[in-house]
Amino acid sequence: MTELKPAYERPLLVRHESGLMNKYARVQALEPLQAIDGVPVSTLLETYGSPLFVFSEKTLRERYRGLHDALARRWPRVRIAWSYKTNYLDGICRVFHDEGAWAEVVSEMEYDKAVANGVDPSHIHFNGPYKPPAALKKAFAGGAMVHLDHFDEMLRAESAADELGLRPGVAIRLNLAAEGVPPWSRFGFNLESGQAMDAVRRLLAGGKLELVGLHCHLGTFLLDPAAYHVAAKKLAGFANQLRSELGIRLEFIDLGGGFASHNTLKAQYLPAAQATPSFERYADAIAEGLAELDAPPRERPVLVVEDGRALVDDAGSLITTVHASKRLPDGRRALVLDAGVNVLFTSFWYRHDVVPTRPIAGLPEPTVLYGPLCMNIDVVRDQLLLPPVEVGEPLVLRNTGAYNVTQWMQFITYRPAVVLIGKNGQHALLRKRETLETLKEREVIPPWL
Ligand SMILES: Cc1ncc(COP(=O)(O)O)c(C=O)c1O
Repeated sequence: MTELKPAYERPLLVRHESGLMNKYARVQALEPLQAIDGVPVSTLLETYGSPLFVFSEKTLRERYRGLHDALARRWPRVRIAWSYKTNYLDGICRVFHDEGAWAEVVSEMEYDKAVANGVDPSHIHFNGPYKPPAALKKAFAGGAMVHLDHFDEMLRAESAADELGLRPGVAIRLNLAAEGVPPWSRFGFNLESGQAMDAVRRLLAGGKLELVGLHCHLGTFLLDPAAYHVAAKKLAGFANQLRSELGIRLEFIDLGGGFASHNTLKAQYLPAAQATPSFERYADAIAEGLAELDAPPRERPVLVVEDGRALVDDAGSLITTVHASKRLPDGRRALVLDAGVNVLFTSFWYRHDVVPTRPIAGLPEPTVLYGPLCMNIDVVRDQLLLPPVEVGEPLVLRNTGAYNVTQWMQFITYRPAVVLIGKNGQHALLRKRETLETLKEREVIPPWL
């Protein structure tokens, strides 16, 4: 009988959190967050109820300017296309468009939303693997930049262009290998295998579309800027090849999104404050890679990025209220909150930062945070150290601005209100709390019932 080899298990370092002394000092007391941009959490809860998503306009603008400036200091022409799927609440999108962002969309619905937000269609980058013929026609007619994902789409794009009597500029999406990043090879044309070059030759042979851009979105929450150096260098090398062999001069090179926010992944050892690279480091990595381009300075393509979470995550907080406190059989304290994984999808990946709204005396103890759902998966944090918080008091889950208000589910409870805090402490709704009417509005009772 052949002996079965034991399966390899990747080691995982987990920070030991005792709640008491560690080797350096006493565990740091949690810094309470009494107000967001000067507005007391208590005022927000009294006005809009709990749970509540709150966004800081100041942080949205600061993050956008931080990213833009870091890139613009290193590359002559820069464009940020705001990734709609990360948070397509109109009010949030409008803040970024007001700062100068174009839109990056991945569906006809997002395209329509961007146009309704006043974005000129020619300022839209249209990505994604699913663009039906009607969506392609709409995008070409408006002058949007379509990023081709596969050969079938190229054929459909050619037909759409033909029907409109246009010869639109398009980009092709590439996937490539960058050390340390799991390849997202399901999107776009592979660079290393030669498929990307085949796609370009096929596009040129068709004679109906013009290649004006290259795109590569490596992945998401990439903590190592070196991956962008590799991607930028490979795209620059490919652009050089297109220029020398086929005479193609590109208008833009799009490095996608994926920069990390100040969140902490579950398997991450260092906390975000130490692990999240600055925009400067990402920008350095990209600019160094793009420096390989063989193009005279005035012909250098525009550098496009499509960041989502790095722009919006830090600006969002979820305020929740402790509904109950109980003991689990293993002795751990468990808190039941009024917000769960139905509205905080990202708690499946992140150890969200949870802070009280007042200084609390007393030793922190290991605590598990559950949401309100009658479902075993509804765990907001499986382990964190919290001081003795009381039933009825609020907790703030920070850096929850990305992907939650788009990926949340209407499940078991109503989805909460979302609020924006503007200048001088003004605040207003971005989205109303759902009610029974919200649900009933879409439901229909068959006539025989
Ligand atoms: C094509 C594309 N661009 C940009 C983004 C935004 O990514 P992130 O939020 O990680 O910056 C995504 C998200 O997956 C994407 O698919």
